[in-house]
Amino acid sequence: MKMKVSVVSRSGREVIKGGVELNDSANVSDLQEAIYRKTKKYYPSRQRLTLPLRPGSKEKAVVLNAKKSLQDYCDGSGDNLTVVFKDLGTQVSYKTLFFFEYLGPLIIYPIFYHLPVYRFFGYKGERVIHPVQTYAMYYWCFHYFKRIMETFFVHRFSHATSPLSNVFRNCVYYWTFGAYVAYYVNHPLYTPVNDLQVKIGLGFGLISQVLNFYCHLLLRNLRSDGKGGYQIPRGFLFNIVTCANYTTEIYQWLGFNIATQTVAGYVFLVVAASIMTNWALAKHRRLVKSFCCSYLMGKREGQNTHGDGQYSRHSSEKFECQSAIEWYVLQDSKSIIRQQDPNSLVLLGKLKVFKLRLSCLSGYKLNTTDLADQPTLADLAVYE
Ligand SMILES: NC(=O)c1ccc[n+]([C@@H]2O[C@H](COP(=O)([O-])OP(=O)(O)OC[C@H]3O[C@@H](n4cnc5c(N)ncnc54)[C@H](OP(=O)(O)O)[C@@H]3O)[C@@H](O)[C@H]2O)c1
Repeated sequence: MKMKVSVVSRSGREVIKGGVELNDSANVSDLQEAIYRKTKKYYPSRQRLTLPLRPGSKEKAVVLNAKKSLQDYCDGSGDNLTVVFKDLGTQVSYKTLFFFEYLGPLIIYPIFYHLPVYRFFGYKGERVIHPVQTYAMYYWCFHYFKRIMETFFVHRFSHATSPLSNVFRNCVYYWTFGAYVAYYVNHPLYTPVNDLQVKIGLGFGLISQVLNFYCHLLLRNLRSDGKGGYQIPRGFLFNIVTCANYTTEIYQWLGFNIATQTVAGYVFLVVAASIMTNWALAKHRRLVKSFCCSYLMGKREGQNTHGDGQYSRHSSEKFECQSAIEWYVLQDSKSIIRQQDPNSLVLLGKLKVFKLRLSCLSGYKLNTTDLADQPTLADLAVYE
């Protein structure tokens, strides 16, 4: 059987005249390849395909998942589908993006340290280099070298590519801040803080860098099955915050600033921390959503949890579970069982389901772990 897919722009104009005809067993990736064959320009990673929204709708458009079958999006009308096409522009690999954004600070900072750049800013005298300026230069370079190495050998990115425009935007951010901080820390009029403060700052910063690397290894292991997708990070600081990698990143910049004490460094710290906090909150929300943590959501909204300590019922149909880790189902009023396959919850009908072990940078804390295979409600109470 064949199916017809109409490909339209957001204004409703046909992107491919007459649409595309595909087997009804085709995946979204087959459709993307077909669009590329017809247009010769829009290769798959340039395409963003969504389902059309009803006029006036304020909902977010559903983005088609390349691995899914087109039938999953057909909504009953098996042989016809309309998708909305958006050109994401020229793409570059994530590794290229990260490489260039980190290369800038790695090169720019030592230029301020080694070369007589301050002559161009009107300082003609001899420049005395303080030990902390040397340590700071090595610290800085180590940090960005580490990031480049992690980009190539540690991170397992979910997206292969990113729009080319992001390279320019991110480079402006990293390169400008690199130059700004380097200018002040290496300045001929720079006055160092006392030795003890330097040692405490750099020591704390280095430990944080090592811990940040460890966090990245833990994140890497979340994708060891080769499937991509998102899991709830666990272990070490991830038991307390959702994005421990950002926490340690912030701490390591704090260490750098304790040792070097410049306004420029603290400005960079505040901007970076606010960016990472926003990302952490967004990532936390995404995890809550994907793991349909009704227990957590219920508590947050002050509903669904009865005053008598019982948990409310949730219709299992509401769950769109993506992962099989740590689901607990209330069996009766006294015990809960570990549920390995959350999809089987659908078969279980109305049950009380707990998804535990989520916490976030914003301070929302829900630590759970290592419950026994047959935990009781008393065990759970510990995690209330
Ligand atoms: N100074 C600054 O302004 C600043 C700002 C941001 C980041 N950073 C530093 O750069 C590092 C990399 O940052 P990033 O924001 O690009 O990546 P990230 O969020 O730290 O993630 C690193 C890798 O882990 C993956 N990952 C994250 N959460 C996951 C989960 N729940 N399940 C499975 N995989 C997961 C990411 O996948 P995806 O490809 O799907 O994201 C990515 O490949 C940070 O950890 C931080 O040290 C610094």
